[in-house]
Amino acid sequence: MNDLNALPADFTWGVATSAYQIEGAVSEDGRSPSIWDTFSRTAGAIDNGDHGDIACDHYHRWREDIALMKKLGVDAYRFSIAWPRVVPGGSGQVNEAGLGFYDRLVDGLLEAGITPFPTLYHWDLPQALQDRGGWPVRETAEHFAAYAAVVADRLGDRVRDWATLNEPLCSAWIGHLEGRMAPGLTDLTAAVNASYHLHLGYGLATQAIRAAVPGARVGIVNNLSPCEPATDSDADRAAAVRADGHTNRWWLDPIHGRGYPQDMLDLYGVALPERPGDLETIAAPLDWLGLNYYFRNVVADDPTGPLPHAKQVEAPGRRTAMDWEVCADGLEQLLMRLTDDYGARSIYVTENGSAYPDVVKPDGTVDDPERARYLEEHLAACARAAGKGAPLAGYFAWSLLDNFEWAYGYDKRFGLIHVDYETQRRTIKGSGHRYADIIRSSARGARKAA
Ligand code: IFM
Repeated sequence: MNDLNALPADFTWGVATSAYQIEGAVSEDGRSPSIWDTFSRTAGAIDNGDHGDIACDHYHRWREDIALMKKLGVDAYRFSIAWPRVVPGGSGQVNEAGLGFYDRLVDGLLEAGITPFPTLYHWDLPQALQDRGGWPVRETAEHFAAYAAVVADRLGDRVRDWATLNEPLCSAWIGHLEGRMAPGLTDLTAAVNASYHLHLGYGLATQAIRAAVPGARVGIVNNLSPCEPATDSDADRAAAVRADGHTNRWWLDPIHGRGYPQDMLDLYGVALPERPGDLETIAAPLDWLGLNYYFRNVVADDPTGPLPHAKQVEAPGRRTAMDWEVCADGLEQLLMRLTDDYGARSIYVTENGSAYPDVVKPDGTVDDPERARYLEEHLAACARAAGKGAPLAGYFAWSLLDNFEWAYGYDKRFGLIHVDYETQRRTIKGSGHRYADIIRSSARGARKAA
């Protein structure tokens, strides 16, 4: 793809996963239950009653999965560390066996020439901490920093890049306001407090990682969406501003030292649990910003609907199995916004991908041309943004493997690699082969081959 020439020569080509979605082994080696173990046992919470007990059995098959990454030719692997494996009680006692798993994984990656890119929190809060109040209480942020210090201390001699939180929007808004994710609450005050303590946890963990690992590069991963009005009416345009505040500004402004957006504070009407110095902690200078991009929001005013009183309307583009519109331009727009409005110094697309109902054909292959096209279009959007000056350092395809797609269970397949959950057989899909080709023909790939 010649249109990728604008990507930097040292661009990082990666794949991403998260612990609860792939590891399985939920009761092994001292791991304690997380809020997702609890939520997935709640009647009606997950499609088909699915859960992550076995998932992709990556806990036992990680060597095979590293070999697959090597086949794809990726430079880096973004995975998450399960807090309930490392500190099963959420605070206090460290579980050596749990930490040992990530120790071996990191060594295995490095031996394969793949850079480990861990995320410390991808939604699997130890249930023990939920029982003590979860993210709505301040102590959880402090325990998160202590857990981050333990992991950084152990892996910091081999890991340079650290993602603190993954998509705090989902933890706070979807988990505490909409109730569609763990812990399944529908409480605005809890949601606002959770969002604040997630940010505080990010700031405190950043300090802890930097103290443990000189030279660490610390970032945060946000899922963002451009928000556009469905019509030119004043009401729809105001709805788009609210949706943007809820989806983007609430998550970006505080970490960039701008505090929380006043229009949203007014809309939520919940006092922040702020203490002196917190906003400075939350605004710790970032080494890199992670962007997870899947779709844009086209919204209409919805005065009596749920916050932020802006309802999604059907957008015209192609759609994935998640019913998400395919809109690669939205990725370019966000990259330029992070560059121009937030002065980002370094950005990774830490997730981007699509779900389709893939099947293994009788000849053993998986054809997924729509996913390959989605990948190409979004990489082209990355290149356009890089050409216009976005400091884009890498791209992580979501996902390495088909996996447990949270409330949607196993039906929604995002992998570049198909997983047969009965046999745990992995099959590289057409899109995986396409990604490998793109990586090989990139400047970095050509250098590696030489
Ligand atoms: O599977 C999720 C991932 O855990 C977080 N970002 C979005 C993906 C697709 O929904």
